[in-house]
Amino acid sequence: MTTIDTAVSTMRDGTAVEVLAAEDAPTNTAPTKNEDAMLKIWMDGEFVNEDEAKISVFDHGVLYGDGCFEGIRVYNGRIFKLRSHMKRLFESAKAIQLEVPYSIEELEDVLREGVKLNGIVDGYIRPVITRGKGTLGINPAQCPRAGVFVICAKIQLYPPEAYETGLKIITCSRPRVNRAALDPAVKSLNYLNNIMGKVESTNAGCHEAVMLNAAGQVAECTGDNIFFVKDGKVVTPDLEAGLLAGITRAFAMDICENLGIPCEEKLFGLEELKGADEIFLTGTAAEIVSVTTFDGEPISGGVPGEVTKRLLGEFRRLTSVDAAED
Ligand SMILES: Cc1ncc(COP(=O)(O)O)c(C=O)c1O
Repeated sequence: MTTIDTAVSTMRDGTAVEVLAAEDAPTNTAPTKNEDAMLKIWMDGEFVNEDEAKISVFDHGVLYGDGCFEGIRVYNGRIFKLRSHMKRLFESAKAIQLEVPYSIEELEDVLREGVKLNGIVDGYIRPVITRGKGTLGINPAQCPRAGVFVICAKIQLYPPEAYETGLKIITCSRPRVNRAALDPAVKSLNYLNNIMGKVESTNAGCHEAVMLNAAGQVAECTGDNIFFVKDGKVVTPDLEAGLLAGITRAFAMDICENLGIPCEEKLFGLEELKGADEIFLTGTAAEIVSVTTFDGEPISGGVPGEVTKRLLGEFRRLTSVDAAED
């Protein structure tokens, strides 16, 4: 437990910055690193200390962003939506013709072991599949075996007060990558389209940016899915708009159904979004978070809306005790 507690108490508190515990271990005045304070990272078959967890400079994951990954929450010792995340990971790998040298069940066992070994009760897991070591050309056929690693750590995407006050977002000037070019449903290691959108929002002093597709339809944010509420109805972009099929997005839709709140997936533009009564974002790291300022204008009077608060309350209730691992 010491690893995680120490890391958490020293986490950077900047907005919209993912913080993995390993980055923020306290400055150690001792000349050598404390073994106990190090995360145990699974590197393709074995757990090693974080300072030994290295990959080759010839790995195409590094050279070309060739690979895929997942981000998964641990709530109260349970790996939330584990099977859904692993299925998406394997679907992403299949979509880019990347053969994973393990089965879903084998990787699930690794994740469970990593959680235990690192003493994680509430945390975040990052499994990554890279194309592996190859030549300097882009041809993946030159990479005989995929690289696999798993980080079990902590994350804080938005500061706790953001859940009380809501987020500020902008419309991104850059379109979301075209589905036909590279389907955003694939959670690949190639996040530059999203990163440049994030840079734009940060430069504007905002937490997130809404990305539209080439046809001007709302797709998603740079690292979260988007929903709006109008006249008591919850709406989110249809997958056809070109977005990641978020696991929290699906869970939020299930919550709506269970609470008897109408929820619809459809294609819509910026004008409809701006006329919303409430806007909220969903994501593994973000969970459910309200948007209260959009392009400088207040949404729902500049405070989190009632439907969003109800959904967040139910989300917290369902994840806090017995989080579903399906
Ligand atoms: C681009 C993008 N959209 C949406 C999401 C939310 O997906 P999920 O709820 O599965 O974390 C993420 C988070 O990983 C993301 O990176």
